[in-house]
Amino acid sequence: EVAAFPQGEVHKATYQLRHKDAWRTTDSTGLIYLFSEDGTTYSALSAVCTHLGCNVHIHEEGGFRCPCHDAYFAPDGEVVSGPPRRSLVRLETKIEAGIVSVLI
Ligand code: FES
Repeated sequence: EVAAFPQGEVHKATYQLRHKDAWRTTDSTGLIYLFSEDGTTYSALSAVCTHLGCNVHIHEEGGFRCPCHDAYFAPDGEVVSGPPRRSLVRLETKIEAGIVSVLI
């Protein structure tokens, strides 16, 4: 719910995903970061580092840090330093009936 993600702060959220192919079902969990400046639109970033796939963490000075190879991403997900060549993946969001949805 939107109320769980107040504007002006970066919020960590987890998701569960079930993938089915012809023979097997695989469950996995993931981490995203949600942010809203105005409470009416949200930005979402995947927490998966674009270098080798570790989860990034919120940095105390803003932005995100990857602990695996000491990369740093700006609050908008752009690479600031470290080995990644691509920014964090921006995810599509929408709000309906007070619920924030993120397309994984
Ligand atoms: Fe993130 Fe290497 S996996 S910097």
